[in-house]
Amino acid sequence: MQILKDVASTRRFIQTQKQAGKTIGLVPTMGALHAGHLNLVSQCVAENNVAVASIFVNPIQFNNATDLAKYPRTLAADTALLKDAGCHAVFCPDAETMYQHKPIVSLDFGLLDKVLEGEFRPGHFSGVGVVVSKLFNILQPDVAYFGQKDFQQFLIIKQLVDDLNFPVKLICADIVREADGLAMSSRNQRLNHEARIQAASIYKMLQSSARQLGIKNFEVIKQEAEAELERQGIRLEYLALADRHTLKTLETFSPAAPSVLLVAVYVGDVRLIDNILV
Ligand code: PAF
Repeated sequence: MQILKDVASTRRFIQTQKQAGKTIGLVPTMGALHAGHLNLVSQCVAENNVAVASIFVNPIQFNNATDLAKYPRTLAADTALLKDAGCHAVFCPDAETMYQHKPIVSLDFGLLDKVLEGEFRPGHFSGVGVVVSKLFNILQPDVAYFGQKDFQQFLIIKQLVDDLNFPVKLICADIVREADGLAMSSRNQRLNHEARIQAASIYKMLQSSARQLGIKNFEVIKQEAEAELERQGIRLEYLALADRHTLKTLETFSPAAPSVLLVAVYVGDVRLIDNILV
């Protein structure tokens, strides 16, 4: 597996593959890889001639310095996992390589980056959009793979690709869960033993809230969910029902309209998100 650290040699590697007529698949990550990432990598390996993963903890998508500092960094273990998964190359630049200076460009996604994660993490999606644009320009993938756990991020990247004509096909893969239902996330590594047990109630709450849609008023479902999470020691940041395409929040559930139930919580000082299509 090729380890690519700088832009010039990465461009040369990609150009050689393209000249040989090979298709490139990309799995962009921030490292601390888990089974969810590896699921994306195996799909990428199966569907492309060359599978590339990127590992870069992108500072400009963090609006909280402590969160950035505490983000798990496990590069040696990550590269070993990628090699075992059959990945052909990993692009793992340092921050100076990606940003000689703080980018002046910022991106506005309209309603998509003002609600939910966008409301609680201002600037986050602009940072995601900028780094994904840079990765697409450097690695020129034919196909890029993302996880449904970051549902809003996927819609943002879809908008980016549509509006800026990136010639990249996007794949959104299902959420991979632990046996007790917790959505796999790099941030799970930061949960202590007690918090890890508590965190199982996030998905249980999502499932029970989804079952009650159309039976109870959504405001009541939300209050009950918040109370149940609180009993488990979890602080609810938001629980929202939204249109699956626009993320416009919905007050009432209609079975005919594709929607999504999204949640963000704090378990101790660890912020976790999850969602379920309804
Ligand atoms: O989902 C992530 O890991 C990151 O937001 C991404 C897409 C790699 C951009 O930094």
